[in-house]
Amino acid sequence: MTAHLLQGKKVLITAGPTREAIDPVRYISNHSSGKMGYAIAEKVLELGAEVVLISGPVNIQLQHPRIRIIKVNAASEMYLACCKVFEEIDIAVFAAAVADYRPAKVSEQKIKKDEASFTIKMVKNVDIAYEFGKVKTDNQISVGFALETNDEIAHAKNKLQRKNFDMVILNSMNDANATFGYDTNKITTINKNLVQKPFSLKQKTEVAKDIVREISSLLMRQFEYEEIRAFE
Ligand code: CTP
Repeated sequence: MTAHLLQGKKVLITAGPTREAIDPVRYISNHSSGKMGYAIAEKVLELGAEVVLISGPVNIQLQHPRIRIIKVNAASEMYLACCKVFEEIDIAVFAAAVADYRPAKVSEQKIKKDEASFTIKMVKNVDIAYEFGKVKTDNQISVGFALETNDEIAHAKNKLQRKNFDMVILNSMNDANATFGYDTNKITTINKNLVQKPFSLKQKTEVAKDIVREISSLLMRQFEYEEIRAFE
């Protein structure tokens, strides 16, 4: 039996939500369950890859001799953990729902409800996928997600180019039983040549298989490209 293309490849996967602290007992977060990222991790492990899974807080357990799980809370922690492995990885899959903003100031004490209303000033978080896109080499593959509510294809194509992804996986909030919290998902992949491939609504474990198959074909193309260059 021949080895799968993913055999021995180092795959970075970000998954789950991030939590941005307001004070010692409160935070701002989102509905991400982490199911999609963890399902992709399981599938690439099955095919022989090594995985670094950098995960926000989720209710999923995953153990495997070839997985290293780094648990984080804030986007800044997720970014620092990613930076440590950016250079050594072959493939990055950015499945985390990273908070785009965080409170400008984290109160050291629990905030008391003295005022009738209060405002939290938010500042922008680092965009992890964008930062990787800037330093990515030709031998590295970057895959991102786009969750959209409107003009889905146009927004996804824009993300693909802006973040230098090799492929973007589009989820639409308009598809029933897809995205946050559901065990099912419906995706459309868009590659660098802007070729779109729609998939039907499936269990997230099945969607993970489709995504990993698409990543494998990106690897195949990279492999063929290297072969051609070797003969030039
Ligand atoms: N992403 C990331 N770091 C961030 C924000 C997003 O790594 N701070 C990654 C996500 O994991 C996903 C992709 O970028 O793979 C797109 O994320 P999304 O939140 O949909 O896009 P944004 O660029 O944040 O754009 P907007 O929220 O304005 O749609």
